[in-house]
Amino acid sequence: MVMDEIRGRLALVTGASGGIGAACSHQLAQHGVHLALTYSSNLTSIDELVTELQSRYAENKLRISTHKVDVGSADQIESLFREIDTQHGQRPDMLISNAGYGKRITNIWDIPLEEFDYMLNVNLRASFVLVKGVVEHMKAQRWGRIVFMSSIAAYGGGINGCHYAASKGGLTGMMKNLSTRLAEYNISVNDVAPAMIGDTGMVPNALAIQDTVATIPLGRLGTPEETANVVMMLVSTGYMTGQSLLLSGGLK
Ligand SMILES: NC(=O)c1ccc[n+]([C@@H]2O[C@H](COP(=O)([O-])OP(=O)(O)OC[C@H]3O[C@@H](n4cnc5c(N)ncnc54)[C@H](OP(=O)(O)O)[C@@H]3O)[C@@H](O)[C@H]2O)c1
Repeated sequence: MVMDEIRGRLALVTGASGGIGAACSHQLAQHGVHLALTYSSNLTSIDELVTELQSRYAENKLRISTHKVDVGSADQIESLFREIDTQHGQRPDMLISNAGYGKRITNIWDIPLEEFDYMLNVNLRASFVLVKGVVEHMKAQRWGRIVFMSSIAAYGGGINGCHYAASKGGLTGMMKNLSTRLAEYNISVNDVAPAMIGDTGMVPNALAIQDTVATIPLGRLGTPEETANVVMMLVSTGYMTGQSLLLSGGLK
């Protein structure tokens, strides 16, 4: 893999306190990428992650900052960028918009309107606001990588309700539009659409969703590391843009 292009650059990873975000942070750090990492409530988890990254990849002399952000709030995202400006002296070269909310309510008649609005803010509007915060810098330097964390739900599958599907489907639609608008600036925009990734807050382990695991053709949960592999492929493969990559063990 051609990783030289990303070494020394700055990545913003939202939701780095969670399973998939932490795995992405590990692989980016391993390849010498400086990091701005966000968490929402889990301070312990982000602190442990940074300690681990600094010791495991010490030879990369990484600049790693952490930021408490509710991505549902545009004001808090604005403060995040002010903090990044101060602590890194630049805006991110890569955006991994991964933070997500997935309260599971299966049927539309049980989903309150407020829950729909909240989910759309956190899972969809946040990525719009985040892209606005990084895009001018990426345009100016004619290099940028944007990856959204979508879901199999974007295609109608998964175990959650229509509010989650709408938020993730919206992400994939926005990704496809942005990829055509931003290609001329050498900014790639893609998403990863995982399903049933274990060791995460959303899917702690196979026992938590036993019946669903039985339906996965590969017969097991995916791992955060496998999800991060796909993210790394996208940020290191600038010729790929406008793609939604399903990572689902064969689930449709
Ligand atoms: N696990 C799966 O099978 C699966 C499948 C499809 C898609 N995904 C997507 O993958 C992404 C990462 O989830 P995960 O599986 O790694 O689950 P996770 O371990 O629960 O991580 C979720 C992350 O999002 C953060 N977050 C939640 N609400 C937030 C908010 N309002 N503002 C800012 N950050 C917020 C959490 O922060 P705190 O913990 O600090 O509060 C945490 O870092 C999500 O977008 C999810 O929809 C996961």
